[in-house]
Amino acid sequence: MSDTPIPVAAIGVGRMGRHHARIYHQLPQAELLAVVDGDEDRAGALADQYGCDCLATVEELLDKYPQVKAVSIAVPTVYHEAVAEPLLSRGIACLIEKPMAQSVEVGKRIVETARKHNTLCQVGHTERFNPAVRAISDWDLVPRFIECDRVSPFTFRSVDVGVVFDMMIHDLDIILMMARSPLKNVHACGVALLGEHEDVADARLEFEDGCVAKITSSRLALKTERKLRVFSEDGYISLDYATKSGMSIRRTGNISILHEVRDQLAEGTDLSDLDYTDLVNIQDLTINDEEPLTAELTNFLDAVTGKAEPEVDADAGFAAVEVAEQVVQKIRDHQWSGLDLDKLV
Ligand SMILES: NC(=O)c1ccc[n+]([C@@H]2O[C@H](COP(=O)([O-])OP(=O)(O)OC[C@H]3O[C@@H](n4cnc5c(N)ncnc54)[C@H](O)[C@@H]3O)[C@@H](O)[C@H]2O)c1
Repeated sequence: MSDTPIPVAAIGVGRMGRHHARIYHQLPQAELLAVVDGDEDRAGALADQYGCDCLATVEELLDKYPQVKAVSIAVPTVYHEAVAEPLLSRGIACLIEKPMAQSVEVGKRIVETARKHNTLCQVGHTERFNPAVRAISDWDLVPRFIECDRVSPFTFRSVDVGVVFDMMIHDLDIILMMARSPLKNVHACGVALLGEHEDVADARLEFEDGCVAKITSSRLALKTERKLRVFSEDGYISLDYATKSGMSIRRTGNISILHEVRDQLAEGTDLSDLDYTDLVNIQDLTINDEEPLTAELTNFLDAVTGKAEPEVDADAGFAAVEVAEQVVQKIRDHQWSGLDLDKLV
């Protein structure tokens, strides 16, 4: 016998939330009761498309559908807490879009509310479900150096937060997932060009075991790129989140050639005619084409029914916020000698 679908709602159906509504509509384990958005035209159009109700507020949702069991919250970050609080307090499971909150102070309150009411709270760090990341999830990586680049042109969205909470937070979450030891130091600098929050940021995280992560994020770039490179004890991995592709150079598959090259270099042999890329054994990663958000919402619904553990729980979402806040603080503390922003724009 199949399970009864879980009554769900999508709150905030703008650029991101509309995809939550679409996927809930598609997933057999969910029954999309309503889309909730202050923009009535937007909510109305989606409700027509998915044959569900449209409502303007969380209060209306709770009044009309007391049976609602789980929701996605994809309103702008600064409203996450206001929307989540009444739901978490009533035991309604919340998947809050990333970043969980705009500050440690607010994130702490969300975590405490969820804990106090024993309510499931997940955070939408969708890159965890990117098939390129999934392809290496069971590798026992011991990262030594991690490099992340995430740049895009300005979208004129998510201006309630800076590039660190908007974009870098994805990389912070992935780095914290991979790291084997506590964070020791954070260095960062950045520039705010179009508003009060930083639009370009560069951060360096140092972990107690010596692992270093270097992250570059920009929402003022002329191209779009989301890349991850990991140098680990076991070899090198390069992932492209956008194209969902990746390759690895495993130590085990290259050890004899590396020894040979090292010996010849030590003997003074001229190897300048050799093509390094022909020499090493490069493997493409086996990556499926599952939509990350579908995998994320499937995990959320499975966590609601107790079939699975939440892959990005409230503590993980909060941990990323904690590091993001440190990065922003370092950017504020950074002193530029004689920088005149007016000359840059
Ligand atoms: N996981 C990802 O990859 C990803 C990508 C983009 C955005 N996001 C996150 O999703 C969230 C929303 O971003 P977006 O780009 O979709 O924003 P958006 O501005 O496109 O959409 C937000 C929607 O929320 C509605 N809204 C605002 N306050 C509301 C309230 N109190 N109740 C009901 N509806 C309300 C607005 O009318 C709007 O339709 C942000 O937290 C953002 O960081 C995540």
